[in-house]
Amino acid sequence: MVAQKLIFNSDDLDHLCMVYPKRIKTFDRIILKQVSMIGKHLLFVCLGNICRSPGAEAVMNGKLKTMGWERKIHCDSAGIIGFHAGEPADARMRKQAFKRGYAITSLSRQVKPDSDFDRFDMIIGMDDQNIKDLNALARSEDDRKKIFRMTDFSTQKIYNHIPDPYYTDKEGFELVLDLLEDACDGLMEHLKGENRSEFVNARF
Ligand code: 4NP
Repeated sequence: MVAQKLIFNSDDLDHLCMVYPKRIKTFDRIILKQVSMIGKHLLFVCLGNICRSPGAEAVMNGKLKTMGWERKIHCDSAGIIGFHAGEPADARMRKQAFKRGYAITSLSRQVKPDSDFDRFDMIIGMDDQNIKDLNALARSEDDRKKIFRMTDFSTQKIYNHIPDPYYTDKEGFELVLDLLEDACDGLMEHLKGENRSEFVNARF
């Protein structure tokens, strides 16, 4: 097999198929496709998907890149409401995040329960209301098991939710970024724990 431990996503697979079109037979392609599904998919959710959850997505992507895990763990974000669908993140959040080295590029979208609960392994809400709304959208107990609260992963237990900064000022956004950076550190530790069994022991 050409691709022991090389495949993390479908881009890797497409690249290999392009480079070795003859060497990868149909059977190999099927196995590689399955291997390419390995990895974790995280969905960050807030109310509007223009402040906290795109911030969480960008901070987490930054941490993953530092660890060299950007192709193992895939992040996305969405909002409970679709009011801002198609819009970039709030300019205040983009500005404060950019100052810390995070580029927020995602466009807002609403949660799609019928595909998101299947596609994502962890669906991480920012506050009580997000968690309540996600539980109401869940189709089954298995869906509900995927729902987490961002501050579950906080290392400094100062806040039990990520406060909505929409009607605040620069300080509100700074606080959100402080809390997100801390919670993403904790989330990385959580994923490292899982990684020890899921990736290190994996034999393809
Ligand atoms: P977010 O903040 O949930 O962190 O994206 C909000 C953005 C927009 C609104 C509320 C909260 N809004 O009411 O439009």
